Amino acid sequence: MLYLSIQFRNVELKNRWVMSPMCMYSCENGIANDFHFVHYGSRAQGGTGLIMVEATGVEPRGRITNHCMGIWNDEQAEKLKKIVDFVHQNSESKIGIQLAHAGRKGSTWNNIQIPVEEGWETVAPSPIPYHPTERIPHVLTVDEIKEQVQNFKNAAKRAVKAGFNIIEIHGAHGYLVHQFLSPLSNIRTDEYGGSFENRIRFLLEIVDAVNEELNENVALFVRISGTEYAENGWNIEDSVELAKILKNHGVDLIDVSSGGNIHGAKISVFDGYQVPFASEVKNKAEVKTGAVGLITKIQQADEILQKGDADLIFVAREILRNPYIAVQGSFEMKEESFFPHQYLRAKISS
Ligand code: FNR
Repeated sequence: MLYLSIQFRNVELKNRWVMSPMCMYSCENGIANDFHFVHYGSRAQGGTGLIMVEATGVEPRGRITNHCMGIWNDEQAEKLKKIVDFVHQNSESKIGIQLAHAGRKGSTWNNIQIPVEEGWETVAPSPIPYHPTERIPHVLTVDEIKEQVQNFKNAAKRAVKAGFNIIEIHGAHGYLVHQFLSPLSNIRTDEYGGSFENRIRFLLEIVDAVNEELNENVALFVRISGTEYAENGWNIEDSVELAKILKNHGVDLIDVSSGGNIHGAKISVFDGYQVPFASEVKNKAEVKTGAVGLITKIQQADEILQKGDADLIFVAREILRNPYIAVQGSFEMKEESFFPHQYLRAKISS
């Protein structure tokens, strides 16, 4: 099934391999450069069905570090367009972008918070830092929450103009959207906190605002943490309920990761450890899902699809090691795949 095409709106992915979003911490002023051009371009040469550009800040404070990607101005969008155009002109890959806001996990370097003077004052739903030694984040007012929704909408507009095929909203790993979802990081008493309906409101407003900028040629994904591995925290039942609602708001796929919001949470990590979350969301909410996390082998990836646990396979570290995993898999499985025509002799092994 790895080489069975799949469609989201009018966007057809030629295979199920997705380059998972990965921050490269290599931008100045949020602007992509030659490194990113080669980095993403080489995954297109490698026949990857969908290339997802790394977490990209919707405003300067939305970055994790000073060197993260951004899409809050036209210069940033123009550089990204160069990558998008290369992918479209030289491959059959599709390319998406993950729109993100780091919230209380921003202003860091190597996972350590840096001073305000070198970074910025972080923002969050509630005055709770990720780690007790970190600064208390600024609590967003309702007006400021609306501004953040608008930041996501503006970012989506720029991304659509740049030609991206998929927009993914980063709602996982303890970043701003996840901070609103979780009752452990969101203790607001207004319409954005408290009940499940209130905690998911920020994400739904973003989804609706972003969707206004999309059309049938640009699909919408949301990445969530299926669970945050904490007592009384966000859990898989919440994720299933959220996925049902997101589907009704026009979201085309839920990309199911886990963790990231609770410092020191105990996580048992093994091959495909997050696949059961993708499977539960897919089968209980009846939505398309992406599986991610220690999926490193071609056979393993195919089995996840065959078993109906997910619809797409997101690969992060393995695709850094092997940018050509998609064509390699097609060769091993004797499946047709796309490949640069310049490389066609590689299909002949003798
Ligand atoms: C990541 N990950 C990640 N996730 C995300 O949603 N947005 C991001 O920008 C990043 N950045 C990032 C950078 C680097 C260097 C790594 C290794 C990972 C998480 C990633 O997409 C994936 O979910 C995990 O790495 C698990 O998949 P693998 O690596 O086991 O295939």
